[in-house]
Amino acid sequence: MRVLAISGSLRAASINSALLRTAARLAPPEIDVTLCSVVGELPLFNPDLEQDVPSAVAQLRAEVAAADALLIASPEYAHGVTGTIKNALDWLVSFEPFVNKPVAVLNASPRAHHADSALRETLKTMSAVIVESASVSIPLLGANITEAGMAELPSVALAIRASLAALYAVVVLQQPEHGPTFPVDPR
Ligand SMILES: Cc1cc2nc3c(=O)[nH]c(=O)nc-3n(C[C@H](O)[C@H](O)[C@H](O)COP(=O)(O)O)c2cc1C
Repeated sequence: MRVLAISGSLRAASINSALLRTAARLAPPEIDVTLCSVVGELPLFNPDLEQDVPSAVAQLRAEVAAADALLIASPEYAHGVTGTIKNALDWLVSFEPFVNKPVAVLNASPRAHHADSALRETLKTMSAVIVESASVSIPLLGANITEAGMAELPSVALAIRASLAALYAVVVLQQPEHGPTFPVDPR
């Protein structure tokens, strides 16, 4: 299963990007998790550019089309989603391969519920399929965990592995969803 991971933060020390890189590291052989590298290169969305889309947009769309599922982790800015993730998603509105794409939403900060809700609303409006059983809230913000520590902390590693397993069950094994998100205590 090919999973495209998209971070809504461009910060070098981003917790969300680190979480996605950790998912790539922990993924079992049957799941390939690749981070989207062009998110920071996308121009601001402008429908006028649709005639001849910039190369970063073409790259994003090709990566989305090739993925069996998406894994999104994004911070909350001022009670909303970041411009970074919204801009990337705006370029995918009405992009046919995005429709019905299974998406797992990782939330690295449970207090960031405004952004989580807004992100879900946008994804649903774009006709993505949010895989709830794979959408995990992992309280990493303020937990003082390094990226290496994420993979080594059993509760975090377990949550990431469970998320990927749930995504695989729905996307590849075509099993019905088995439940909502579950909270994780990173201690
Ligand atoms: C401009 C800005 C606005 C923010 N607004 C919120 C907010 O409304 N709610 C919140 O919980 N955190 C807020 N934060 C904190 C970020 O969500 C937090 O720093 C998070 O770790 C950033 O994600 P990252 O580490 O992946 O870059 C804000 C941070 C910045 C820089």
